[in-house]
Amino acid sequence: MASPSPPLPRFEETKPAPWQFARRPRTPRAKAIVYSAIAFFCLFYLLSSSKRQSQPDFWSEFPSRHPFPESPENAQVALPQRLDISINDTLPHDLNKPNPSLHVLVPVQHGSRGACRAITSAMILGYPPPTLVGYGHEKPGATELERMVDRITRMRNYLKESKMVKNHDIVLAIDADDIFFQLPPRVLVTRFQEILRKNNQKLLKKYGAVKVESSIPGSPPEIVQKYSQRVLFGASKICYSALEEDAGCVSVPHSSLPPDVYGWKTDDYPDGELVDAHMNRPRYLNPGAVIGQAADLRIIYDEALRILQQRNKKHGDYQALTQIYGRQEVIRELERRRTVNNAKEWLYKLIGIDEPTNITSISVRLETGHRYEYGIGLDYESQLFFNQIYSRGDVEFIKYNDINKTSQFQGQHHVPREHRLLLPDDIAALPNPYNQSRFAKDQTTHPLWNATLDKLPNPEGHSWHNAPLMTNAHSASVPVLAHLNGDHKLRNEWWEKMWFFPYARALLRRYMRSSHGFDAAQSSLLGGQNWWNTRGGRGGVWTDDENWVTYSDVCEGQERDLFDDDLGLWAKENGDPDEPVYNQFGNLLYGKEPEVPDEW
Ligand SMILES: *[C@@H]1O[C@H](CO)[C@@H](O)[C@H](O)[C@H]1NC(C)=O
Ligand SMILES: *[C@@H]1O[C@H](CO)[C@@H](O)[C@H](O)[C@H]1NC(C)=O
Ligand SMILES: *[C@@H]1O[C@H](CO)[C@@H](O)[C@H](O)[C@H]1NC(C)=O
Ligand SMILES: *[C@@H]1O[C@H](CO)[C@@H](O)[C@H](O)[C@H]1NC(C)=O
Ligand SMILES: *[C@@H]1O[C@H](CO)[C@@H](O)[C@H](O)[C@H]1NC(C)=O
Repeated sequence: MASPSPPLPRFEETKPAPWQFARRPRTPRAKAIVYSAIAFFCLFYLLSSSKRQSQPDFWSEFPSRHPFPESPENAQVALPQRLDISINDTLPHDLNKPNPSLHVLVPVQHGSRGACRAITSAMILGYPPPTLVGYGHEKPGATELERMVDRITRMRNYLKESKMVKNHDIVLAIDADDIFFQLPPRVLVTRFQEILRKNNQKLLKKYGAVKVESSIPGSPPEIVQKYSQRVLFGASKICYSALEEDAGCVSVPHSSLPPDVYGWKTDDYPDGELVDAHMNRPRYLNPGAVIGQAADLRIIYDEALRILQQRNKKHGDYQALTQIYGRQEVIRELERRRTVNNAKEWLYKLIGIDEPTNITSISVRLETGHRYEYGIGLDYESQLFFNQIYSRGDVEFIKYNDINKTSQFQGQHHVPREHRLLLPDDIAALPNPYNQSRFAKDQTTHPLWNATLDKLPNPEGHSWHNAPLMTNAHSASVPVLAHLNGDHKLRNEWWEKMWFFPYARALLRRYMRSSHGFDAAQSSLLGGQNWWNTRGGRGGVWTDDENWVTYSDVCEGQERDLFDDDLGLWAKENGDPDEPVYNQFGNLLYGKEPEVPDEW
């Protein structure tokens, strides 16, 4: 349990010596310049030599070196797409995927409409089969808080104990009820890594590097970056309520969007009314979606559980994560102030280019020797995760080949310095989303081809360029997924606006079929490297206790809300009995093998 924590040590605020240009009688110009220069250098010298030795080294006092040193931005998860493989029916049985996998975790106890929309959109876009955490483990009579603790505990345990999850694997964990996927996993992973790469360069500049002992005995010390980003959460325009005075709301960095991106009232809240929060730049942590390496998420969940237990579980994970993020930033700032070059700091303040972290009047209790560094960062520009709360007006579903619309879009949203939007390159480089597999018609694999049920638009005339894509006018981004945590009534409306909705059943059938037959054989020939993970079995989902559940088990009865196409129950469109499900090695996972006719 928690040891008694000493109060936050008092730290002198870094205040430069008052410096005033005294009036003096006119002297010859050259003399004045020389005197000023001497005065300036004296001051510079004084300021830069006044190191406060008495303060502790926060970087090592509170363990800050990351326990899992491999950088997530360098993990080889998304490999180049390869199309140069010929048909080969031999499926290797010892498929050994050497590169990190991608996992999608969805905490859900039973198939709800929201969870089925999340799962369906993930499958249509080719994500690996999601892992449902806590599925079938309903606790009747449990309070909201008990369920929350159970959910976090199960997520942590799954990341810790599952043989399927390796430390270096990338894990996306999402809220079950209100997430729609818009773009495929390749875009998610590459954008995640690009954002980290960019932000980590900035963090290296801001906080510097430190010399540490090498992990290999006998080798010379290594230089490592002090603080880096390893995990990304979504960003929200409002902070967790009741924490207004907490570091999680006050000390967290500002958005990377321009300070006038919502006009002259940008960032007026919390001084303004809550109704003005829609003009805030997203800045606060929202736990609805998070991506990072398994080892990194695990220690974050560990810490969240520790906080929940300390507090008698009175508050939820949202509050705990907000505070974890806030404290991380406070320690980083204390360490920065300890090592900063005062003269440089003073100069930057003078010309107004510094934006120091606000730790004024923040009181946090720090436990000696405890870790407060988790590599948490936020996706400010909704490249990955769009949070709808106070932001519903920021996005529209636009087609990028509609030049009238794309040229006016930012202007209509009063974005300063508007320009014409182009389809992002990473989307333009994706394969056509409507392209049916060449072999679908001839395959004997389930679901069997049916011209009505498998009808997709002609890929000659349909592509990402004229698919309606939810676009954020202010950050000019097309988010990978949307978290509809705002107005609940919009969930039905926005689901029907998603690009795949009119063809959802056919696209889902295409995904199910891709788990076996030619596409799967092709993938296993590549050594499974272009599979997001090797468990396979695209007809359904996994649970955290490693059971396989079919899509129908989870989502039967939700067809109207998912497809709205009057074609009946999933997998029973033609009155078919339950169909067998295979993994990519051709092994039966579920159902009965079809009877082989005698003449075969
Ligand atoms: C088919 O697979 C086997 C074993 O993996 C390999 O030896 C063979 O070259 C492959 N054939 C073709 C045409 O790719
Ligand atoms: C820093 O935060 C405090 C609240 O804790 C607030 O009163 C103060 O105005 C903030 N300072 C700046 C420069 O934002
Ligand atoms: C674009 O705008 C012009 C003039 O306003 C109009 O003539 C044209 O039909 C529009 N094009 C489309 C595709 O809406
Ligand atoms: C559809 O995919 C096939 C390969 O399966 C490819 O040859 C074809 O060019 C693709 N069509 C479009 C429009 O992308
Ligand atoms: C295809 O599916 C439709 C809709 O369920 C059904 O009416 C039709 O009979 C099916 N066609 C074949 C050939 O199975």
